[in-house]
Amino acid sequence: MENRNRQVLLKRRPTGAPTPDDFTIADAPLPEPAEGEVLVRGMYLSLDPYMRGRISGQRSYARPVEVAAVMEGRVVGEVARSRDPAFREGDFVLGGYGWQLYSAVPGQGLLKLDPAEAPLSTALGVLGMPGLTAYVGLAEIGKPQPGETVVVSAASGAVGAVAGQLAKRAGARVVGIAGGADKCRWVEAELGFDAGIDHRSADLGPALDHACPKGIDVYWENVGGAVQQAVFPRLNDFGRMIMCGMVAEYNDVEPRPGPNLMSAVRKRLKIQGFIVSDQWQRFAEYRAMAAPLLKGGELRYREDIVEGLDRAPEAFIGLLQGRNFGKLVVKLADDQTRGARS
Ligand SMILES: NC(=O)c1ccc[n+]([C@@H]2O[C@H](COP(=O)([O-])OP(=O)(O)OC[C@H]3O[C@@H](n4cnc5c(N)ncnc54)[C@H](OP(=O)(O)O)[C@@H]3O)[C@@H](O)[C@H]2O)c1
Repeated sequence: MENRNRQVLLKRRPTGAPTPDDFTIADAPLPEPAEGEVLVRGMYLSLDPYMRGRISGQRSYARPVEVAAVMEGRVVGEVARSRDPAFREGDFVLGGYGWQLYSAVPGQGLLKLDPAEAPLSTALGVLGMPGLTAYVGLAEIGKPQPGETVVVSAASGAVGAVAGQLAKRAGARVVGIAGGADKCRWVEAELGFDAGIDHRSADLGPALDHACPKGIDVYWENVGGAVQQAVFPRLNDFGRMIMCGMVAEYNDVEPRPGPNLMSAVRKRLKIQGFIVSDQWQRFAEYRAMAAPLLKGGELRYREDIVEGLDRAPEAFIGLLQGRNFGKLVVKLADDQTRGARS
């Protein structure tokens, strides 16, 4: 074990797109676990679009990261020392320890992970918060029916890939919108979507008309902006819009004008936002459903793994521009279980 901790701190609140200068990388003393706590050595750090909201300082559903504080984030790690009888050295756990190599955290609230069930890093993506997001958004808002058409934006990403696959399993026709030909090919060939549309090159409106000849019944909103403008007029009567996120607008300094909502009345649309943290009680249910599918190859996923904590700011900036391909994860330390499984 090293005797220093390494951390990424928020240096200042960004205006517009974040830059590397908005973050500081610093060394700190190794934290000491108190009674009831464990010292966790991070192995994988999750980078997620919601973090842009946390560093903006705007009023939201969660408290912002303070300037000079460690950036917030979920981590999969290994217990290095335990002062909680429920955990032993060498246990693998999931928790929120932030952008740092080590953390002393209460054992309560940590989820123990079994590397034989699935690769540990999947607890941050397909078997983690993004997977649960896809599951509850579809179950509670989208409710796709057999034969309906579901359009998913950011379709190759952590949430979109699961949402589209679950909609396929419900019997829907699924069209993914993604940035670039490689991502579109992947959602068709690997995830089994019926079509993939490149929002960067395609004339989105005609491409949607071609891919959705019966219109759109459910739209999984991940990006907002031009994609939303193209999808919204194509929603069918009684269409549902699952408002999960609008990542294309997170760096905006001023809010953009929204769509004209008259058609929501005329078409009897349902437009509903949700926040996954209101649904943590369904996490075990989701994992019990999804883990066997993952093991059997029926639920597929892709990770974009960046090596080393120091690269976290640059990778996070890229996430807000679509540079990631799959669930974005930072590898903090070697994972011996990965070699052992394959
Ligand atoms: N409501 C909730 O509780 C909840 C929970 C988790 C996530 N979310 C939201 O779900 C969405 C997806 O999150 P994720 O973790 O799965 O991320 P992700 O899709 O793995 O990565 C973000 C993706 O967004 C797309 N994107 C980024 N900037 C864009 C731009 N300017 N224009 C168009 N597309 C852009 C890119 O995909 P392309 O290259 O394909 O465009 C990028 O790969 C985000 O909006 C996030 O905030 C919400």
